[in-house]
Amino acid sequence: MMEAKDDFPISKEIVYMNTAAISLKPIKVIDSMIDFMRKHEVSGTYNFNDNIEEEVLENARIRVAELIGCEKEDIALTTNTSEGINFIANATKFSRGDNVVTTDLEFPSVTYPWLRVAKENGVEVRFASNKNGIVTLEDLEKLTDDKTKVIALSHVEYSSGIRYNLREVADLAHRHGALLVVDAVQSLGVVPLNVRREDVDALASAAYKWLLGPFGAGFVYMRKEFYENVEPLFVGWRSSREHEYDPRKISYPKDARKFEYGGMPYTSIYGLTKAIEYVKDIGVENIESYVMKITEKLMEKLNDLGAQILTPYDREKRAGIVTVRFDKMDYDRAVEELAKEKIIVSKRMNALRISPHIYNTEEEIEKIVQSIRRMIENY
Ligand SMILES: Cc1ncc(COP(=O)(O)O)c(C=O)c1O
Repeated sequence: MMEAKDDFPISKEIVYMNTAAISLKPIKVIDSMIDFMRKHEVSGTYNFNDNIEEEVLENARIRVAELIGCEKEDIALTTNTSEGINFIANATKFSRGDNVVTTDLEFPSVTYPWLRVAKENGVEVRFASNKNGIVTLEDLEKLTDDKTKVIALSHVEYSSGIRYNLREVADLAHRHGALLVVDAVQSLGVVPLNVRREDVDALASAAYKWLLGPFGAGFVYMRKEFYENVEPLFVGWRSSREHEYDPRKISYPKDARKFEYGGMPYTSIYGLTKAIEYVKDIGVENIESYVMKITEKLMEKLNDLGAQILTPYDREKRAGIVTVRFDKMDYDRAVEELAKEKIIVSKRMNALRISPHIYNTEEEIEKIVQSIRRMIENY
């Protein structure tokens, strides 16, 4: 969107298409964080107290709850996605012989927490095998049975960019009495997601990709039935209901806040709130249709160049990531050569991963296609 470029000054100097790694940040979100630090972080308790602390955290929970369609009580704030998935994995109650179903396409943060708890609990972690970056519902169905406790997967895969229909996976999980635990860091901000409608049981994300927020802030959603019946692995002064500071007993907050245990990255969490407000002002639906439009154009033009496109073309089956292969391309070199032209992308899954956002334009799509064309003509 041409008009978004003013909010991301660096996007006028470079063609940044690496949102799936780290997004550009709206300058006003960064400015608001600097103001917050100057006001509240430099002067100890003179300008920071329990009320301000609670307000910062509460505002973030409210914004996150609005974004994903749940109650603020269902949200625990975290520093990143991995922390959220660990919270859920460590609180899940297993019996020997249970299993967790996931895929071999996943980012490590989605599978490691389950591998870690599986070892202690005699649980098997089952990996659906991808075919050229695609895992289907049938692949998950084949591995799921009545011993399945959890299906763990990303809403949008970081590698091939495929998007699952969460409602279908939730139905599969629930038919077997299992939970669906979702990593939404590659989808929130670029595709609408409602945890109630999709019937998701737990969901973790961070701010620094499609939500256009800072490092150090994330969150985890969990169903009431989940947080009511479990104990968090980590505990600390914030694990007590009214900050009672009675060292002899723990009285957990009654909601998902029981997972927040200590001092928080307040400035980052403030930035998360501001980033969600920025995204909501534009509208997630508007972001989605814009990103779909430019990525569709990108896929068509790359297809004309003879690319093997791993990401499905169907809008329902992808989000903002486009992953492509070319005959004989050295992807490390391609990433470097594009960077020399100030075009920023990544190599993933032995392929080029291109992930634009609202700070990109159709002219930039044209530009990256021309650069790739020149590169492959020179092989
Ligand atoms: C699917 C997925 N999950 C998690 C992360 C990052 O995890 P964290 O928020 O813990 O840094 C990434 C980053 O690439 C990712 O692609």
